[in-house]
Amino acid sequence: MRILELERVASGYGSVAVLRGVSLHVNVGEIVTLIGANGAGKSTLLMTLFGQPRAAGGRILLDGVDITQRPTHHLAGLGMALVPEGRRIFPGMTVAENLAMGAVSVPEEAMPEVERVRERVFHLFPILAERAGQRAGTLSGGEQQMLAIGRAMMSRPRVLLLDEPSLGLAPLVIRRIFTVLREIAAEGTTLFLVEQNANQALRLANRGYVLVNGEIRMEGSGEALLADPEVRRAYLGGH
Ligand SMILES: Nc1ncnc2c1ncn2[C@@H]1O[C@H](COP(=O)(O)OP(=O)(O)O)[C@@H](O)[C@H]1O
Ligand SMILES: [Mg+2]
Repeated sequence: MRILELERVASGYGSVAVLRGVSLHVNVGEIVTLIGANGAGKSTLLMTLFGQPRAAGGRILLDGVDITQRPTHHLAGLGMALVPEGRRIFPGMTVAENLAMGAVSVPEEAMPEVERVRERVFHLFPILAERAGQRAGTLSGGEQQMLAIGRAMMSRPRVLLLDEPSLGLAPLVIRRIFTVLREIAAEGTTLFLVEQNANQALRLANRGYVLVNGEIRMEGSGEALLADPEVRRAYLGGH
């Protein structure tokens, strides 16, 4: 069953076309990755899911329902949560306050469930529990990424969207984060992540797509793409 589907989605900024008819889908329970070079349109694709920018053509379906023209503020409550590029945590607020911000759109009656999600976030990222009272701006880059993922989890998404979670982080920290992403997926959350770090992303993913200049160039299982000569040459340093 498809949780998310894009049908020939076009998007861009003013007269500048970025996505040129992108079609892809994510099944319930899958980990899907979209890999592509800097400037390929990965962030634009994720932002278009939230109507910023609004798709200029094609259709976006969530659970089979057309959400292409839904106002952005309606989209937050539908079960998608985005971990944005560059984390975008609130540096002056504490770790605990940042997590609480992730749950602002959760209805009152669901707050006991939010408490359980907070405990789960602290279990997955113990460092966040240790630093709960600390200003988020004092965290390391890796800890800020963990916080951004935790904050997104607080809205209890069915599909978690991640924009280059490995960007700028040391290999050991990246490994830690990808291990947790695997755990989050194993607990039933669908993952769709965009990455330049093709190696880690394709190892994690069930399926992947390659975005080149706003178009899907290739698709296949994570394993098949990892073994593909063109992917290896373009995204894996030719090894
Ligand atoms: N807010 C914006 N206004 C105009 N052009 C933009 C904006 N954001 C991104 N772009 C352009 O859109 C293209 C795709 O960018 P982006 O989606 O950020 O790619 P990626 O995330 O794959 O690096 C790039 O050419 C970029 O310069
Ligand atoms: Mg980007």
